[in-house]
Amino acid sequence: MRLPDQPSLRDYTDHLAGMAADGLAAIGDAPDLDALEAARVAFLGDRRGEILEFQRALGLLARDDKPEAGKRFNTVKRQLEQALAERHAELGRAGAGYHPPLDRTMPARPQWRGAKHPVTLVIEEIAAIFRELGFTIALGPEAEREWYNFTSLNFPADHPAMDMHDTLYVQDDVLLRTHTSPVQVRTLQRYAPPIRILAPGNVYRRDFFDASHAPMFAQIEGLCVDEGVSFVDLKATLGHFAQRFFGSARARFRPSFFPFTEPSAEMDIECQLCQGAGCAACKGTGWMEILGSGMVHPAVLEAAGIDSEKYTGWAFGMGPARIAQQRYGVGDIRVFYDSDVRFLEQITE
Ligand code: PHE
Repeated sequence: MRLPDQPSLRDYTDHLAGMAADGLAAIGDAPDLDALEAARVAFLGDRRGEILEFQRALGLLARDDKPEAGKRFNTVKRQLEQALAERHAELGRAGAGYHPPLDRTMPARPQWRGAKHPVTLVIEEIAAIFRELGFTIALGPEAEREWYNFTSLNFPADHPAMDMHDTLYVQDDVLLRTHTSPVQVRTLQRYAPPIRILAPGNVYRRDFFDASHAPMFAQIEGLCVDEGVSFVDLKATLGHFAQRFFGSARARFRPSFFPFTEPSAEMDIECQLCQGAGCAACKGTGWMEILGSGMVHPAVLEAAGIDSEKYTGWAFGMGPARIAQQRYGVGDIRVFYDSDVRFLEQITE
């Protein structure tokens, strides 16, 4: 049924409603996307769509009827477009529900499960070696009292390490521990000798973040207190550790100073990154310092309530990140903090 050549408003709206009903039915009943596309071309198509006749006929109407006819035309056009979009989404969803047959013989996709951090691996390996020697694990708080971190460890009251420039204070007498040595005193207060403990944990210093420093890093404290313990035990035990951990790499002791040990020594390992030739990681020396150690100062034993006439002991504190650098050939300590999976993935147990 065609519109008359000179349509009245009534002719126009009647025909428009009829076309709309046909269009909505064709769109709503389209069984698949091809049929839907055919319905779109038939009703809304740019070249032959039914809608075009009504667009053209707007110009033929009496002037007063045009606004009303235009409004109805727009409404119908919008209805058709909306119906088209809805049906399109419906048919699309139905398509998405299609699953190709499963091949149950395909190998499973590998899953990335994550892994232990290289520094954790090193801490566990060190703990395993010392466990064989009778050392158990002890832990202490990271927010520590000044007394445990400094005073009980025989630091003089004006020691520069206590300065705000070097240490992160939380309150007047509470700070983020600068080393794991306070665990020595906490352990000695709690348990009677013989004592053999290993205390891993994080420590904090106001250091720059560079290739060999970080403001937060892990340490492992070791403490052995008993009757008749001497420097020979210290040297033999740490020598044994170095050999177990680094194999044939050379190790050396250098005299050093700590307020809480007397005498004190630092242990270096031949730099494994350059085999002792000298590189950026060992600052050209060919050696990497991996721990500080010494005989526990009698003042420390006394501060913890231990009879320093009866008992002696030795202690050490090592940096597992430095050791991990040596073990895994890592030139810059900062990569341990980046959590870049491309780096971490290369180091597994
Ligand atoms: N606490 C010292 C440091 O952080 C290391 C150390 C521990 C030295 C135990 C001697 C004995 O540098």
